[in-house]
Amino acid sequence: MSFQNDTVLVTGGASFIGSHLVEELVAADADVRVADDLSSGETDNLSAVRDEIEFLNGNLKDRSFADRATDDIDRLFHLAADHGGRGYISNYPANCATNMALDNIVFESAVQNGVEKITFASSACTYPTDIQQERQRLQEDMVSFDERGGAYADETYGWAKLMGERSLQAFHDQYGVDASAVRIFTAYGPRENETHAIVALIAKAYAEQDPYQIWGDGEQTRNFTYVKDITKALRLANETITDATPVNAGISEYISINDVADAIFAELGWEPDSINHMTDKPVGVRHRAADTTRAKELLGWEPEYTLEKGLAETIDWYTDHRDKDYVRENLETLLHER
Ligand SMILES: NC(=O)c1ccc[n+]([C@@H]2O[C@H](COP(=O)([O-])OP(=O)(O)OC[C@H]3O[C@@H](n4cnc5c(N)ncnc54)[C@H](O)[C@@H]3O)[C@@H](O)[C@H]2O)c1
Repeated sequence: MSFQNDTVLVTGGASFIGSHLVEELVAADADVRVADDLSSGETDNLSAVRDEIEFLNGNLKDRSFADRATDDIDRLFHLAADHGGRGYISNYPANCATNMALDNIVFESAVQNGVEKITFASSACTYPTDIQQERQRLQEDMVSFDERGGAYADETYGWAKLMGERSLQAFHDQYGVDASAVRIFTAYGPRENETHAIVALIAKAYAEQDPYQIWGDGEQTRNFTYVKDITKALRLANETITDATPVNAGISEYISINDVADAIFAELGWEPDSINHMTDKPVGVRHRAADTTRAKELLGWEPEYTLEKGLAETIDWYTDHRDKDYVRENLETLLHER
């Protein structure tokens, strides 16, 4: 992959996924600019590369700031979004709806400033929810803009991401800009916050919460995908796909929340006396995993991290960076506010 000497903008680059991507682009000798309002991102996430990047702090819904961010840029990775874990997107639907404005302002600004390639961080939440009650791996064409009833996205957040894809397709069709949309599935890894399932489960175990709380019956599954596999898919899509075709970035295994919790207890060497399954909490769809055929065909992408390896790295990072007493005292806030 060659990003050498390209000027690259990462919107939302101070985020969990964004900061990993920024580090990789810097390592690939790109000239990287980050534009982020730090609403959920943190400058600490960029500490390893802070001196090697340009950082712009501002709200990309402000068109003049977006124009400053996209000025003199070759490639754009658009990751900025109002977003959090399941509890966040269920409780803040209006915040998530504002992503429709954000995406369009960024795309229009980029196109008018002559950006050549745009990659959009889309989501598995674009897929119809009703087909995720049973185990069936999600294929990109299970969402359709061309058939009546072809879309039934997951909450306002999912609809906004789907509209982001639709807009990007329109910008490609009308202006010819190279475009790609990567449907990210349940990422996890260092720097993720506690509103997301795996880090929430790690935080509760680290704080030795007992009875240990699991949202739902714990038999709901996700295809937890390590962040480095996600960023690789984003980079490959930016290089390879030009016509806004969406592509999945997610593993194809179904992993239950109960199994993840057991793996976390084993890694931390602690387990609770009892588990309280909280069936009143929002849990989202029943089963979710990706079909990776298109990612293999178009990008040559395959995930490299096993859950064991990714979990070990995430737990190491978490216990190194978070004080146990702080997590104990602030657990409820950490789990709900991004
Ligand atoms: N984490 C996942 O499992 C997952 C799954 C699917 C899609 N995604 C998408 O990937 C991207 C990154 O997500 P993440 O989980 O790493 O963290 P995140 O959702 O916290 O990242 C969003 C970033 O955008 C910034 N931001 C938000 N609104 C902004 C605005 N108006 N102007 C400028 N910056 C703004 C935030 O400060 C943050 O750094 C998001 O677009 C998210 O929707 C993530």
